[in-house]
Amino acid sequence: MDPSAGASPFFGERFHRDPAAVYRRLRRDHGPVAPIQLEGGVPAWCVLGYREVHHVVGNPELFTRDPRRWNQWHRVPEDWSLRAYVEPRPSALLADVHEHRTRAPVVHDALATVDPFEISGAVERICDTLIDRFAGRGFADLVVEYTHQIPLLAMAKIYGLPDDDVPMLTHDVALSGQEGEEAVRAHERTVRRMLRLVRERRADPSGDLVSYLVEHPIGFSEDEIAADLFITLGKAHLTTSDWMANALRLMLTEARFAIDLAGGRGSVGHALNEVLWEDTPTQNQVGRWANQDVQLGGKPIRRGDLLVLGLAAANADPQVRPHGHEGATGNHAHLSFSHGEYGCPYAAQEIARTITTTGIEVLLDRLPDTTLGVDPEDLTWRPSLLMRGLTSLPVTFAPH
Ligand code: HEM
Repeated sequence: MDPSAGASPFFGERFHRDPAAVYRRLRRDHGPVAPIQLEGGVPAWCVLGYREVHHVVGNPELFTRDPRRWNQWHRVPEDWSLRAYVEPRPSALLADVHEHRTRAPVVHDALATVDPFEISGAVERICDTLIDRFAGRGFADLVVEYTHQIPLLAMAKIYGLPDDDVPMLTHDVALSGQEGEEAVRAHERTVRRMLRLVRERRADPSGDLVSYLVEHPIGFSEDEIAADLFITLGKAHLTTSDWMANALRLMLTEARFAIDLAGGRGSVGHALNEVLWEDTPTQNQVGRWANQDVQLGGKPIRRGDLLVLGLAAANADPQVRPHGHEGATGNHAHLSFSHGEYGCPYAAQEIARTITTTGIEVLLDRLPDTTLGVDPEDLTWRPSLLMRGLTSLPVTFAPH
C-alpha cells in the first residue's frame, strides 16, 4: 500500500499549533502506525505506539538507519526542509548497522571520557557569566540569552575549543539546522572548524575527547571524526536547550513545580523527568527505512518505506500510560532519548542531565524571584516537526 493513501499532513499550521492533538487523532483513526504526508506530499509512516517504536529501534537490521534504502527519493525536492536529516554522510554515527556497531561505540566511549565534575563546574561558570549579563536589568529572555547558549558553550569546553571560537560556532550550528544557502555555508564552516580541531589534536594530543578519537586504533579518517564531532554538536544543541527551557516553562507556569527558594531545587529533577514524558524536545525522529516488506501495528510496510519515530506520541501511548501523567515521576522509561543502538548514548544523556540540572539550579540560586513576564498562552513554539522548543521565554525578577 502506498502510505500516502489516506495520509494526514504532518506539517503546517495545524500540526505546529498542537502536535499532541494530531498524534491523538492519528492514533484514534489508524492505531499505532499511521500513514502521513511530510512536507511536499512526501509519504511516510508515523510510528505512534510505544511498543512499536521500541520494536523498530530495537531491530536495526529490519528497520535500517540507512537512507539509501528509501523508495521515495524521486519525490524529494532539492530544497526539502528535512533533507539534512536524510542525506547520507561519511559518519560512524549515521552508518548502517554493521559499521555503526563497530565504530559508533568508539564515539560513545569518547563521550564517556568527559568528567562529570569538571563539566558541572564549567557549566556553573558559563551560567554565572550569562546571568551576569542580564541580572542587573530585571528582565531577560531565558531562551535567547540563557538556555540556547549553554549547551554549545559546554560542548566547546568539552572539545577544548578556545572561547573566541564559540560565538561563531553557536551561530553556525544553530543556522545549519535551518534551510537554504546560508544553512549550507554554516554547515560547511563548522565542519571545516572541526577538521582544523582534529588536525590540531593530531599534531598535539591533549588527552581530551577529540584526542581520544584521533588516537584510537580503529583508525578513523579526519573527515569521519570531523563529521561525527559536528553531528554530536547538533545532537546536543537544541535537545538540551529545549529540555532546559521546557522544564523552566513548567516550573514557571505550573503550581506543583512553582519556583521558590525553598522548593525550587527539589522540583528540578521532577520537572526535568516530567518534561521528557509530557513535552519532550525530541518529538519525532526521521527516521528508519524498512529493509523488507513487513507488518507493523497491523499496517503493510513496504521495503524502502520511511518510518518516522513518533517519540512524543509513544510517550503518551494510553496502552502503556492509561492514567495520563500520573506515575511519570521517577519513571525513566520514556523514549525521549530513543533507544537501542542508535539511541542517545548513555554518556551523552549524563552530560545533558548535568548541563540542564546545573543550568536550572544556578538560575534558581541567582534569581530566586524569577516569574514569567508574559501570559503562558502568549508563549510561542518554533514550527518544527522534529523538535519542540519555545522561541522565547520572557521573565522578570528584582535587579541584582
Ligand atoms: C550534551 C548533550 C547531548 C549529546 C552530546 C548527545 C549526543 C548524541 C549522539 C552522539 C547521538 C547518536 C548516537 C548514535 O547514533 O550512535 C544521539 C542520539 C540521540 N539523542 Fe542525544 N545527545 C545529547 C542530548 C540529548 C537530549 C537532551 C535528548 C533528548 C531529550 C537527546 C535525544 C537523542 C535521540 C532521540 C537520539 C537518536 C536520534 C536518532 O535516532 O537519529 N539527546 N545523541
